Amino acid sequence: MKRRSIAVIGAGAAGLCAARHILSRPDTFDPPVVYEMTGHLGGTWFYVDRATRGDNPVHSSMYRDLRTNLPKEIMMFPDFPFDEQLPSFLHHSSIQQYLEKYSETFDISRHIKFNTMVEKVKPVTMETETGGAVTWEVISCGTCGDQKTQTFDSVFVCNGHYSDPHLPHIPGIENFKGKVLHSHSYRCPEPFANKSVVILGAKASGVDISIELAQVNAQVILSHNNPSVSLPPHLGIRQACSVVKVLEDGSLQFQDGSVTRADVLLFCTGYNFNFPFLSSSVLGLDVQEHFITPLYKHILPPGFPSIFFIGICKIICPFVHFDCQVKFSLAVLDGSLKLPSQSEMEMDIEREVQRKQNMGVQVKHLLNLDKDQWNYYIDLASMGQFTAPQPVLESLYEEVRKQRQKEPQKYRQINYRLIDATQWKRLEGSP
Ligand SMILES: Cc1cc2nc3c(=O)[nH]c(=O)nc-3n(C[C@H](O)[C@H](O)[C@H](O)COP(=O)(O)OP(=O)(O)OC[C@H]3O[C@@H](n4cnc5c(N)ncnc54)[C@H](O)[C@@H]3O)c2cc1C
Ligand SMILES: *[C@@H]1O[C@H](CO)[C@@H](O)[C@H](O)[C@H]1NC(C)=O
Repeated sequence: MKRRSIAVIGAGAAGLCAARHILSRPDTFDPPVVYEMTGHLGGTWFYVDRATRGDNPVHSSMYRDLRTNLPKEIMMFPDFPFDEQLPSFLHHSSIQQYLEKYSETFDISRHIKFNTMVEKVKPVTMETETGGAVTWEVISCGTCGDQKTQTFDSVFVCNGHYSDPHLPHIPGIENFKGKVLHSHSYRCPEPFANKSVVILGAKASGVDISIELAQVNAQVILSHNNPSVSLPPHLGIRQACSVVKVLEDGSLQFQDGSVTRADVLLFCTGYNFNFPFLSSSVLGLDVQEHFITPLYKHILPPGFPSIFFIGICKIICPFVHFDCQVKFSLAVLDGSLKLPSQSEMEMDIEREVQRKQNMGVQVKHLLNLDKDQWNYYIDLASMGQFTAPQPVLESLYEEVRKQRQKEPQKYRQINYRLIDATQWKRLEGSP
């Protein structure tokens, strides 16, 4: 059989993982062409100390002092442990180093086209004796503006989805007199010292950044509609329901009618999906801010089972997740996994959406896997005939969730160690 050619869009963790597994099967796949629009690998983990570079937005939303919210024991790619000397919760620079080492170990870098942005990806159907075969045209552009078209049997879409800020509309926002920014542009707390800041959204970034700001004596109000977050009282962070409008005098009004003034309004409201290089109508995809459909197993459009979207789900162990999705996709490509028919796949997707909506899940949360991720990996692994992640990961993930909810300021001081496929332990000396 002819070896299949594959384009990978993006050299973040997902793209590197795709490249690593493609390269491990040289009899079946050509070495990939990895397109990376920036001059470096790592994506989100490549820290840039400002949010714009000239007129260009910076891809990464990483902030200076971020430490991971998952311990390295469950963050790692299953076949590539972190340095044993390192603590469980790492500064972002250690993750960048880890990805560089991953790339070096599996000899990925020389397959990356840096400073090359994918501008267009389109399916081209060619008539063959057995029917229509789809190949993919990838149009890319280098720094000198030189356009190039290359054709592949398959495309892995690994462009990340923490770059394009989601800004919910707040009526009257034009009246706000202070500074408005999104967590995408947040880098460090010092500029906010002694200021009054209203933070919108209490997911991972909202909670972490409110703690950072409180520590430089900012007066923080964390505004959200979730159950109250347990925060150390000495930080003085107040919590409020969501901001519904900005009044004419520039003050903010909350849902309960109360009003406050603030120097800064910081949106920690997440990110939009963005695939500027795809014509979603051609692929039959409906791309919304927080949802994409139909994608079989959250990976492939049933009508075009040779383009794979890696890592669009949220509330997951990202690297573990990418690893499973990539192995599944390669099993589809090499023919060892026979997919159901297009209409069966469409029905499967519809059933899954229905199941979640019956449980009351909102559309914008349909891709939040969280507790569902473990069965999802088992499903992908049994279909793709590879080993599913060990149960110890789920167990430690749940432990970390508990600790994070209990002590969002301190849980990162704890160190863990994996013992075997089902057990972990908390190391001595951990608080
Ligand atoms: C602030 C923050 C904190 C996080 N903390 C954690 C954590 O503690 N633990 C954890 O596991 N995960 C965390 N994550 C999630 C993190 O995003 C994932 O771990 C992972 O880095 C995602 O990898 P990715 O490859 O999907 O996307 P990215 O890392 O975003 O990489 C995408 C790459 O594609 C490139 N690209 C995009 N468009 C094009 C194009 N058209 N042409 C060519 N190249 C293109 C980009 O330049 C980039 O290099 C965090 C994310 C953020 C934003
Ligand atoms: C913040 O307030 C403290 C105490 O009043 C003061 O010492 C410090 O200089 C202030 N910082 C800034 C950046 O204004």
